[in-house]
Amino acid sequence: MSIVHVTNLTHIYGDRIIFQDAGFRLLKGEHAGLVGANGAGKSTLLRILTGSLLPDHGNIEWQPNIRAGFLEQHAKLTKGTTILQYMEQAYDRLFEIEKQLNRLAEKMADAEDNLEAILKRYGELQSELESSGFYQIGTKPDVLLLDEPTNYLDAAHIEWLTGYLKNYKHAFLVISHDEHFLNEITTVTFHLEHQTIKRYSGSYQYFLKEYVQSRAQAEAAYAKQHREIKKLEGFIDRNRVRKAKQAKSREKALSKIKRIEKPTDSYVPSFSFKTGRNPAMTVLKTENLEAGYTVPLFKPLSLTVKRGDKIAITGENGAGKSTLIKTLLGDLKPLSGTVTAGQHLQAAYFRQESPASHHTPLEKLRAFFPDLSEKDIRQTLAISGLTPKHISQPLATLSGGEQAKVRLAELMLSNSNLLVLDEPTNHLDTSAKRALKQALCDYKGTILLVSHEPSFYEDWVTHIWRIEAWRRK
Ligand SMILES: Nc1ncnc2c1ncn2[C@@H]1O[C@H](COP(=O)(O)OP(=O)(O)OP(=O)(O)O)[C@@H](O)[C@H]1O
Ligand SMILES: [Mg+2]
Repeated sequence: MSIVHVTNLTHIYGDRIIFQDAGFRLLKGEHAGLVGANGAGKSTLLRILTGSLLPDHGNIEWQPNIRAGFLEQHAKLTKGTTILQYMEQAYDRLFEIEKQLNRLAEKMADAEDNLEAILKRYGELQSELESSGFYQIGTKPDVLLLDEPTNYLDAAHIEWLTGYLKNYKHAFLVISHDEHFLNEITTVTFHLEHQTIKRYSGSYQYFLKEYVQSRAQAEAAYAKQHREIKKLEGFIDRNRVRKAKQAKSREKALSKIKRIEKPTDSYVPSFSFKTGRNPAMTVLKTENLEAGYTVPLFKPLSLTVKRGDKIAITGENGAGKSTLIKTLLGDLKPLSGTVTAGQHLQAAYFRQESPASHHTPLEKLRAFFPDLSEKDIRQTLAISGLTPKHISQPLATLSGGEQAKVRLAELMLSNSNLLVLDEPTNHLDTSAKRALKQALCDYKGTILLVSHEPSFYEDWVTHIWRIEAWRRK
């Protein structure tokens, strides 16, 4: 039985078609992945499913009385939040109702005139909660819709979530660019490309294999048809007069051919980071550094970063990676000890998250680099994978991956000899991740990288700082 059945879905933003007559069906208990390039429309589809966005056309048919939990792409794991609380954000609506009930119960105690109204509202909320099955022990939503849930999780949390989803008794549809995670949790893959949704009955690995094969077949079919068309056209051109009758019949045949569309690839971005002048041999040095806001997070650290070092910093959520980076860069004062920067140090910093504004990428970068020509800025944005339309629409309306690419373009336009990147792969699709990895391999300067994805850094970094080892006992 389908939990949700989507048919004839068409949606257009401005003049950009995101879905054209697309459809899909999620069955009861299915563990599905939703994949596709940055900007393909994955988050849009989830918004349409949850009803927060109305599509231009199409039917979204939910099985009656289905409870869905929804976690949006930018939901964040803030310090002090447990993974359970994080997952519970998916059940937010139910929890909100429960909170409201508690508040109403408090009000009832000292209500005088409006007791009746409160009681009525209480009854309504209670029956909503009961009909949702919230009170049944262990009740989980019939379907979880999760938009890139691993983006802000550390390795241990990702492992927890993997186990949680693997054993999930009900259905889920999870958007992710993390191939390993997808292979572990999914048995069905929906691929979003060319405005349609295609179903593959297997995990990500299976999808990739099938996709490559069907892509090769489509290319062969296109090439074969293209040759046939050329042959017919050639004949018609040569024989229009001499063999007019035959030419006419070929013309008729030609007009009857149902043209196969040329298979196209989505644009593959490429990144490269410029180096400024050479810094001193010792780029950064700390002596008995105690970093933190009020209490030191680590034991006193005496660290040295040498020119050309490429260092991955790993550690649990909330362990203090970003605090350490900010202290090393001088944005945060040490509690004690010292940080010394080598001469001519030029750092460029990719923050973990940066709030999206109503400015367009072009406006933002022009304000940032007033000395650069608009042509250079446009070119860099294009190389990063943004179309002319993207670069002149407000940042807040760009997809997660597109926003990250704008920030990488900003980094590309900066001169630096130290790149500091705080989880730069969040939101990036597989081809963008590959391109970023190549750029960091090729970078001539020094790198400090915070990342939870060993496959992203393990084959090119020179050192790994595991900051758990530095924790105060
Ligand atoms: N309000 C809007 N106005 C104009 N364009 C929009 C709006 N919202 C989204 N878009 C565009 O629609 C496309 C699909 O966006 P969506 O967020 O669904 O992508 P996605 O597949 O989730 O990508 P990512 O992997 O980067 O998260 C993007 O190119 C985006 O720029
Ligand atoms: Mg998205």
